[in-house]
Amino acid sequence: MKLTIIGTGYVGLVTGTCFAEKGHDVLCVDNDPAKIAMLQAGHIPIYEPGLESLVHSNVAARRLRFTTDTAEGVRHGHVIFIGVPTPPRPDGSVDMRFVERVARDVAGAMTEYRIIVDKSTVPVKTGLKVAESIKRYNKAGVDFDVVSNPEFMREGCAVEDQMKPERIVVGVASQRPVATMREVYAPFNAPIIVTDINSAELIKHASNSFLALKISYANALSALCEASHANIQQVVDGIGMDKRIGRAFLNAGLGYGGSCFPKDISAFVAIAQELGYDFRLLKEVQRINSDQLQRFVKRIQDTLWVLQDKVIAVLGLAFKSNTDDVRCSPAVDLVLALQKEGAHIRAYDPQAMEKARPLLPNVTLCPDPCEAARGADAMIIATEWDEFKNLDFGKIKSVMAHPTLFDGRNLLDPVTMKNLGFTYISVGR
Ligand code: UGA
Repeated sequence: MKLTIIGTGYVGLVTGTCFAEKGHDVLCVDNDPAKIAMLQAGHIPIYEPGLESLVHSNVAARRLRFTTDTAEGVRHGHVIFIGVPTPPRPDGSVDMRFVERVARDVAGAMTEYRIIVDKSTVPVKTGLKVAESIKRYNKAGVDFDVVSNPEFMREGCAVEDQMKPERIVVGVASQRPVATMREVYAPFNAPIIVTDINSAELIKHASNSFLALKISYANALSALCEASHANIQQVVDGIGMDKRIGRAFLNAGLGYGGSCFPKDISAFVAIAQELGYDFRLLKEVQRINSDQLQRFVKRIQDTLWVLQDKVIAVLGLAFKSNTDDVRCSPAVDLVLALQKEGAHIRAYDPQAMEKARPLLPNVTLCPDPCEAARGADAMIIATEWDEFKNLDFGKIKSVMAHPTLFDGRNLLDPVTMKNLGFTYISVGR
């Protein structure tokens, strides 16, 4: 099938590439000429495991192409996916200008029936607005359908999530686009749930908010565990074995970050407010999340006492492992909090240093963990990279000024670290 994807960020690029991999004829559109030139030259603007080789093979098979020309995209795809950013405004609500712009551009270029699918994370009722906008700007007056089709992929395993989705949500205003949407997703062999458009839009925000809620619940429990000398890992293993609860997203740590949860929870609170509902439950989720980082900083201060002029090694800057994304990264916020207290930071991340550099101009970025540890009064694990599990901690200890290790992701075994001679402090254990 001929498909067009507008926007080549995480969502658009991964979605388009996976559609091509499943045999569709995909044209990706972006209004950033530099990005399109980069993609046309075979370079991938983001680090996402497995993506680069898929882009290359599908470009070679001529199932995947890139352009800056929206009109060409509208001519090409019978189904046009919108995957542009929906950034937060200062009050937490969603800035819809990119989605609106694309709706207008698509409308202006449409000469025959098209299905316009919203993949961006948007407030409930956006589909209605998109439809109104297309109707207004579509001078040719051709027929169209608007569909809401939220994505549920995680950075770091986006390709896998997209290739083997647990469910496909298709929100429609009539049955007309349903058969085509089923055809688009037929090669993925996943259950398809067809809903109305508003419900599909709510499903997306409600899913991310629930996952954030689970994380905050585990983080709140970690505070109780610290106060009662219990072990958070044993507690969440114990409750997670109840299938009704589930073990996923109950890992305590530095709190959730990234380009989705913080923004989406704020947006959902703002959307609810606008709809006349005070979503206090989610406000508490947000409060627990920011408290979690503050509690961790306080534990560092309680242990090291004065932070002024202390050298602290930080392992991990990305908001989670397997990504180079540092947007709303708890690791970056932690570094900034420690710097505010006068600490000198030596940091290492396997992928995210380039993206972190402009955010952390006064941090010494080191080529490897051992170099970061050199002369340090303490070390912090701030991102759960697998690589950090298997470091030579004997060697690291030998180059540190003092072997104190704060494990913000509960990555290491407390007994092993103690036996190695570290003062080892983790979260809720
Ligand atoms: C999240 C959702 O998981 C995806 O389903 C969704 O499609 C995506 O947002 C989106 O809206 O685009 P993502 O932001 O890539 O995906 O990252 P997650 O794996 O969900 O992690 C989010 C944050 O929660 C990270 O900072 C991670 O370290 C933290 N986390 C996760 C925990 O602190 N504990 C956990 O148990 C799990």
